[in-house]
This record gives sequence, structure tokens and C-alpha cells, in this order.
Amino acid sequence: MARAEHRTAPTAADAAALTTGTHNEQVISRASVPLPCPALPCPALPCPKRVALPPTCGPVSSVAGSHSHGCRWRESHRVEPTGRSVAYMTKINLKGEKATLLPTLYGRALDSQSPDSILHDTMAYEAVQQLEFDFSLVGLRRGDDTSIALRAQHLDDWVREFLAAHPESVVLHLGCGLDTRAFRIDPGPSVQWFDVDYPEVIDLRRQLFPDRQGCEAIGSSVTDPMWLAEIKGDLPVLVVAEGLFMYLKEDEGKELVRRILDHFPSGQLVFDGLSRRGVQLQKLNKAVQAAKAKVYWGFDSCAELEAIDSRLRCVASMSAFELHNDKLPTSFRLTAKVSKVFTGMKNLAVFYRMEF
Ligand SMILES: C[S@@+](CC[C@H](N)C(=O)[O-])C[C@H]1O[C@@H](n2cnc3c(N)ncnc32)[C@H](O)[C@@H]1O
Repeated sequence: MARAEHRTAPTAADAAALTTGTHNEQVISRASVPLPCPALPCPALPCPKRVALPPTCGPVSSVAGSHSHGCRWRESHRVEPTGRSVAYMTKINLKGEKATLLPTLYGRALDSQSPDSILHDTMAYEAVQQLEFDFSLVGLRRGDDTSIALRAQHLDDWVREFLAAHPESVVLHLGCGLDTRAFRIDPGPSVQWFDVDYPEVIDLRRQLFPDRQGCEAIGSSVTDPMWLAEIKGDLPVLVVAEGLFMYLKEDEGKELVRRILDHFPSGQLVFDGLSRRGVQLQKLNKAVQAAKAKVYWGFDSCAELEAIDSRLRCVASMSAFELHNDKLPTSFRLTAKVSKVFTGMKNLAVFYRMEF
């Protein structure tokens, strides 16, 4: 089933569109609103539907309808004091590693519209609709939406297990991007959840998603020691970092891990990582290339991660190729089979669960 199309590499002009985050209100005629609809399957969305928008935007309403090709559109409107209705979309201009949040967001959005969705992340879909951006530029290939959803689900499961065992704890969702993990997990009232990413990304999150009690968003580089110093370190911590560590330099990443270990009494770190070979092969990673990002930190084993600090123990590690689903295209499943024979390939992308 073709759910995401094969994409070509973006042109220089396309790439120029990926610059730092801004938020825009524009007067746009309905016909000119560039919705990502044609790249999405045509879902039956309940409509009209309200979307989360910042309170500063005044009364906002949403209208929806269908294009002739069957896809749905939706627009949010703000009514100005003059009575004029202003179409309202959020413009994004993200560059480098920040722009890599777009393919994963889009993958979860596409998955949410599948009849056999894995993650049911309808908030991702709503966010995609709200963004003025051509998502065909993000470098997703056919089947990537399924594997993105599977990966998120795998980490979600580890997060749920930790929270079941530690109902009173701190969650650090590092490099959160536009992932709505806290909404999916719905942590209990004694969990303090922190979404951490660069200020531009957090600004965008605030425009797209409503506040959630018990959750705080921190706009900072994860490598800056200041943000962590402001969080109380008296409870067990769960660090969840999906698609983050490869974008850090090795010494920065190791320092961050040690800083977290020094700050909290105990906890777990769940994350995915690329092998060194995976880092070397980054030119083949369409999503990384499309974002004009660069990956740096690769690791090859639990032992190597345990060597960061003597308090760290590896509880589990699992190749991303071991995540199975019938919906994955044959090419993905074949690659997974081949990877069983070739360890180097199997270990290109691995999930780790560490504790201290
Ligand atoms: C591949 S995206 C993953 C986003 C999200 N975890 C997801 O799965 O959709 C990588 C994210 O890491 C963030 N990131 C990379 N380096 C960072 C840093 N030094 N500090 C904070 N965030 C960082 C980027 O801004 C981006 O949101």
C-alpha cells in the first residue's frame, strides 16, 4: 500500500525554505492555502474541527471541506475586529538538525490516517495540517511512516513500563521535536514531564499543541547545563531521547549523560542510536540529507555505552530491524531479513535501554 511516495532530493531553492522557526499570520484566500493534502491519504476526518492555537490569536474557528480529488482541507480563521476573517497557518523555517523533526512528525501524521494505524497520533496529523510547509520535501520513502510509528511505539512501551513501576518520577523527553508523546502516554499526576528542544522548536510546539498539566516545555540545547540545574533531582528519572543522540558530538553526548547521572538518584535512559557505520553512511539517509543536517555520534555496543560511566548498565538493546509489522513494505522486510545475517547492517540503528 503506497502511503508515502518516493521523493527526490530537494533543490537548493527547496532547502532555502528550511531556515529558523517563525510564526506567521497571513491573509490567504482559501484556494491559495498550501495544504499538505495531496501527499496524504484521503482520510475521513470529523469536521469541522477545532485546533490548538496560541491564546494571543483571538477567537479562532476552523473550517473544513473536501477537494475534488477527495482529500480534505482544513483552515483555521481568526476574526479581526473589522469582521474580516483571516486564514491562519503556522509557517516553519527550520534548518539542519531542527528540520529533522519534520519527517518523523509527518510519518506519525500519515500513520494516524491509516485504517490500521499503529500510533493513532491524530495530533500529529492536525499539526501537519496547521503548518505551512511542503511535506513532500522531507525525504520520506514508502513505508517510512510505518517504521517511524513502530519506533515511536517501541519507545512509548518502554516509557509506560517505567512509569508503571515509578508513578512518582521525572521524565526528560530530550530532543522532543513535535512529538506528542506526553499526550499518547498520558502520565499520572505524580509524573513531572519535561519536553526539551531548541527554543525555536519549543516555540513551534507552543503554537501547535495545548498545554498539559504536569508537562513543561524547555527551550534550550540539551547540551547546555543550565536547564537541568533548574529541575529538582530528588526522584527517579526516565530519559527518552528518540532520534537525538546522533546529532550531538560524542563528547557533548557523554557529558550530557554523566550530568543526568549526577543529578538524579536513579533512573533509565531509553533511546535509539546509530552505529559508527550508520554515521559514515549518512549520505544515504534521505531525511537527514533533505534537512541538510549532519550526524556525528555513533556507538556500536552496550559495552561502549556502559563505559561512559561506571553507574550505567545496559538492560536491553534491539536492532530497529527487529521491529515487525505486516504493513511494512516487502523491501523493508527483506532488508530486515538480510540484516539478520549481516551484523553490521543489523546494528546500523539500535534501541537501547540503560539504567543507573
Ligand atoms: C530527528 S528529530 C526527532 C524529534 C522527535 N524526537 C521525534 O521523534 O519526532 C531530532 C530532534 O532533536 C533536536 N535536537 C538536536 N540536537 C539538539 C540539541 N543539542 N538540543 C536540543 N534539541 C536537539 C532537534 O531540534 C529535533 O527536534
